[in-house]
Amino acid sequence: MKPWIGDNRMPLNEDAANSSSRAASRGVGGLVYGGDYNPEQWPEEVWLEDVRLMREANVNRVSIGIFSWTKIEPQPGQFDFGWLDRVVDLLHANGVAVNLATPTASPPAWLVELHPEILPVTGHGVTLRAGSRRHYCPHAPQYRDAAKRIVRALAVHFRDHPALALWHVDNEYSCHIGECFCDQSKAAFRVWLERRYGTLDALNAAWATTVWSQLYTSWQQVEPPHPLPAFGNPSHQLDWRRFSSQSWIDCFLDQKAILREITPAVPVTTNFMGFHPTIDYWALAAAEDVVSNDAYPETSDPDWAIDAAMASDLMRSIGEGRPWLLMEQAVAYATWRDQNSTKRPGVMRLGSYQSIARGADGVMFFQWRTSQAGAEMHMIGLVSHGGIDNRQWREATALGGELARLSELAGSRVKAKVAILFDWTNWWALETEGKLDAAIRLMPHVRELYAALFRIGVTVDFAQPGSNLAGYSLVVAPHLYLVDDAGADNLCRYVEGGGTLLMSFFSGLVDDKVHIRLGGYPAPFREILGLRVEEFAPFAGSMTNGMRTEDGRRFECRTWADVVRVDGAEALATFEADFYKGLPALTRHRYGKGSALYLATRPDEAGVAWVVGRACETAGIAASPGASSAVEIVRRSDGVRSWMFVLNHSDEAVEVPLEGSGVELISGQAVEGSLRVAPVDLAIVRTQ
Ligand code: GLA
Repeated sequence: MKPWIGDNRMPLNEDAANSSSRAASRGVGGLVYGGDYNPEQWPEEVWLEDVRLMREANVNRVSIGIFSWTKIEPQPGQFDFGWLDRVVDLLHANGVAVNLATPTASPPAWLVELHPEILPVTGHGVTLRAGSRRHYCPHAPQYRDAAKRIVRALAVHFRDHPALALWHVDNEYSCHIGECFCDQSKAAFRVWLERRYGTLDALNAAWATTVWSQLYTSWQQVEPPHPLPAFGNPSHQLDWRRFSSQSWIDCFLDQKAILREITPAVPVTTNFMGFHPTIDYWALAAAEDVVSNDAYPETSDPDWAIDAAMASDLMRSIGEGRPWLLMEQAVAYATWRDQNSTKRPGVMRLGSYQSIARGADGVMFFQWRTSQAGAEMHMIGLVSHGGIDNRQWREATALGGELARLSELAGSRVKAKVAILFDWTNWWALETEGKLDAAIRLMPHVRELYAALFRIGVTVDFAQPGSNLAGYSLVVAPHLYLVDDAGADNLCRYVEGGGTLLMSFFSGLVDDKVHIRLGGYPAPFREILGLRVEEFAPFAGSMTNGMRTEDGRRFECRTWADVVRVDGAEALATFEADFYKGLPALTRHRYGKGSALYLATRPDEAGVAWVVGRACETAGIAASPGASSAVEIVRRSDGVRSWMFVLNHSDEAVEVPLEGSGVELISGQAVEGSLRVAPVDLAIVRTQ
């Protein structure tokens, strides 16, 4: 073992390891700053310049080894750690800690040659070959065993290295390929189903195989949901999504078990991709010590900050409020969209602070030094092809300098009074075919409700229907099409106990097997909502309707109308036309100690803002003065001190009212009464 100097690692027991030693900012004593570092793409003399520049930029963390499998294991079972030792030692000597990656996202050519059966297969039966990355089937035991072997070797080799701050497992699980239809996957699906249902009778009942004569009389007859002549069976499709999601989680768990065994005190993460459709991130986050995210908002979109904020809030929420890490972002642009715009001056800084405002304890980039060749050579890193005499470098070093002075923020938390329910199972079930209107999609609807809250400066957590909702004054349930019994009961108890629920149409329709809940829509919520949906009236083509509110306003409605019969609820808005004219578009029902609102249509942006305003008012939630689409206001707190972040995304200076006085952290100035924030700039005000 090497005589490492300055190793301050915590004792290796579970309790100690469960607490702060497994924090995002472990070992840094402040905010993490750095990026993906791929030294294997460069001669060693460049490494010396890299670490010198890292010091200049205040980099304290890099992610290393993400795509280094062949460099570490050039032949099966033969490991070469020499280069990695040298680079990790060099980083450590220069004060840079390491997120050490398990390099399993890009299997070596020798593994594919030995076991071509690890290659993934699409639903149409096309085998995806090696030559880019992520060319593996998560069910292939040949891949899983090879991955475990290199993970163990890596963990044993680096177990005592003081630079090791965090394990970065694989890379963006299920990016590029969400599911695999090869024969090994088919066999694994059958095993998973047999475990889930026990008997074929139970599977047949759960999948309602009496419909369209789909009865199975042997497990061998059950297939993945390949492309089919007509609509597939929604229960079958949902189980396939559950199974595919769990398979990626199982790949992670394989590795985590080894890492925990060998390095019990070192936290483990795998990097997420915001609202990614093919893995249930609640389930994967529950197995992680630190949640981390890769965020590549398209900043030419005027509302980019809303999308980015939403992803950050999701990361904080799936980690149960713990500080998380922005693992990757672009200094300027990505390359994988058809058009990739650059981040204009100040925008990268604002996006970085937005993550911190929303609970991140660090900001990292893809990548440190721009590649000279290969698939992503046009994606500019902190050190560009032309060196460092450029705007990106100046902005990145300035940001590194600022963050180094903001260590007091690390570990503090964001508290939200509103939760939006977001459940992957519901997402999967909602977006299968055959549901009257393909325009009913979860993300756009979640986003419009979230945006209305963002614009009034109300911070949002995401939660699941079964989560502990006690701390929230308002829970929003957008298109909660699928809800299991426990989730439905939990929501009813939440309202009964004094909570306010805002539920939108196409909710409460099916159970967790995707069977309709009989007895009138939305069966599990009729009592708390005080109504019954008698009929659906989806809009054809570009048809719209209007909604008139009790306070004399009118908003346009899109997509859909429910024909609602109230049974105790009051109408806050009614439809202005069509055969359901005068029937409710928004209702409110007092139930137990709380209230439940039901939105029977999809209003325009102003209408959504009005609906959300009514829900907030019912729940006693006030807007943050000064907040708008362009002025983002969020708070972090450590229980004693509180930090108010004001991010001005607009091209005009803004004046935001302040309650009391405080100190603006970046300038060090005392502030009182109000705060002026320059265009594309921010302020962080500390109050006691
Ligand atoms: C993802 C990956 C990185 C890189 C970046 C930039 O986030 O994790 O390896 O490909 O995108 O495109």
